[in-house]
Amino acid sequence: MISISGLSQYYGQSNILRKVDLRVPRGLCTCLMGRNGVGKTTLLKCLMGLLPIKKGKIFFNDSDITAQSTHWRARHGLGYVPQGRQIFPLLTVEENLTLPLAARRDKVRGIPAGVYDLFPVLKEMRSRRGGDLSGGQQQQLAIARAMVLEPEVLILDEPTEGIQPNIVGEIIEFVHKLTDEMGLTVLQVEQKVPIARKVGHNYAIMERGQVVARGSMEGLDAETIKNFLTV
Ligand SMILES: Nc1ncnc2c1ncn2[C@@H]1O[C@H](COP(=O)(O)OP(=O)(O)OP(=O)(O)O)[C@@H](O)[C@H]1O
Ligand SMILES: [Mg+2]
Repeated sequence: MISISGLSQYYGQSNILRKVDLRVPRGLCTCLMGRNGVGKTTLLKCLMGLLPIKKGKIFFNDSDITAQSTHWRARHGLGYVPQGRQIFPLLTVEENLTLPLAARRDKVRGIPAGVYDLFPVLKEMRSRRGGDLSGGQQQQLAIARAMVLEPEVLILDEPTEGIQPNIVGEIIEFVHKLTDEMGLTVLQVEQKVPIARKVGHNYAIMERGQVVARGSMEGLDAETIKNFLTV
């Protein structure tokens, strides 16, 4: 379980996150929602230790991880798929999947068997360069790369952004598998309500650096959508 409390963050003088509180319960998918520029990615970067935290605390399974490095967090169960994928375009699929293995604590140095089963297309394309895959396949590669470390929590930043519908469907099925079959915890930034309804058990909505609404996905009503999500 992840628990963020009183988190504030600044870029220069601008206050980007204002006392954010967020709980991500174990074994469920929580969707972090909100319009462009409200601070969703910044919050995930703080959660991964990619931005030093000015104020507030982050707990993971009851340990205070606020001061831990990104590397430590990745080694201890936080998997992260950044917005815009950021795979290595000149490396092959297999090389992209092999690189993170160096961070494994258990010294396993082969790609875990289950990883290719999550997205079989990657197996067929394992000798192809990452940059030669379609956008949707690159997203699948970025997700698979995070799965190589067999995380306990998978943090996905807009994994369905600009992706063709059939692959969006595969990503939705994948998230179901993570939570329902594998018992993982998922935190997914998702702006599209229909997709959030399919994957999320809970939602949290941000506006101007704050979490302004939260609850179970069934309780996400038209009024809240109109106030905080409709462009
Ligand atoms: N490196 C940076 N330096 C200064 N300001 C930044 C930086 N990165 C982001 N910002 C600003 O911080 C605010 C929050 O950005 P962030 O990327 O967290 O939003 P977001 O909710 O993820 O948006 P989107 O839905 O477009 O991905 C925005 O106003 C953005 O312009
Ligand atoms: Mg973002």
